[in-house]
Amino acid sequence: MLLDVTNRPPTKILLDGGDPEESLRIKGLLGFLDGQTTNPTYVAKNPEVQRRIVSGHKLSAKEQKDEYKSIVQRISPLVGTAGVSIEVFADFDTTAEQMLAQGEEMYGWIPNAYIKYPCLPEGLRAAQMSVQKGIRVNMTLCFSQEQAAAVYAATKGAYESAYVSPFVGRLDDRGEDGMGLVRNIKKMYARGDGHVHVLTASLRRLEHLLYAIALGSELVTVPAKTLEEWKAKDLPLPEADFQYMAVNAKGKALKPIPYKELDLSAPWDSFDIKHELTDQGVTRFVSDYKSTLAPAA
Ligand code: E4P
Repeated sequence: MLLDVTNRPPTKILLDGGDPEESLRIKGLLGFLDGQTTNPTYVAKNPEVQRRIVSGHKLSAKEQKDEYKSIVQRISPLVGTAGVSIEVFADFDTTAEQMLAQGEEMYGWIPNAYIKYPCLPEGLRAAQMSVQKGIRVNMTLCFSQEQAAAVYAATKGAYESAYVSPFVGRLDDRGEDGMGLVRNIKKMYARGDGHVHVLTASLRRLEHLLYAIALGSELVTVPAKTLEEWKAKDLPLPEADFQYMAVNAKGKALKPIPYKELDLSAPWDSFDIKHELTDQGVTRFVSDYKSTLAPAA
């Protein structure tokens, strides 16, 4: 079965990147683009940001923010209802109030923003305050079912759906079945009220995209390279008997992630949300963000 642009499966397709020219190209290639996710790594790799750095001009914090704003303002009108996710700067010392202040400012940049907070305790607290203020959120760097349960609890009462982004590829990279986490979260959320949508992220291959669609992930964010491969194969969709092979690039079986019975009505801070990949992810985003900055005078 192939994708018919006028009769699409329910999963929304987002581009994972930080270059408006790429968004335009991919939208032209597919004939649609539901949304986009950005992050500090993609902003650091943006061709304009790179051009400035290569010409010897590292950015001030204000210039970096202005670049990010200009990038998302150019992407915003290109995408559909899944919006553009914009990530706050957060390290291990950033308080929820500091994240929220950034989130409130970024939310005003474009009409279709989702604010990305990390699955850290302060990120969850920032998300809780954000949804109370009507700010749409995307909880990023999710690597465990406990984190997804905490996202559910912290964003209860959200006026519009909140997103949670399980990072499949980074789990696969260390030998665990990342798509199994998506399956577990979908199963757990099936018992809930539907206010959190699963945005499958950190894709490495076309099978991840097909299985995300087969699992009914509400959204999936995909690097340009994988979307190009999908288009080159005429946009296949998973058949009813689609079988996902949980193997790494070398064909070695990935370790299953067991399902856990968790109580979605429990307070968010009762869940053990610590995960070393979240900490590593925060460290990497901080480092990529700082790589574009001139040293403070
Ligand atoms: C999604 O929002 C993330 O930015 C993204 O999928 C990260 O993927 P990576 O593991 O390829 O960096």
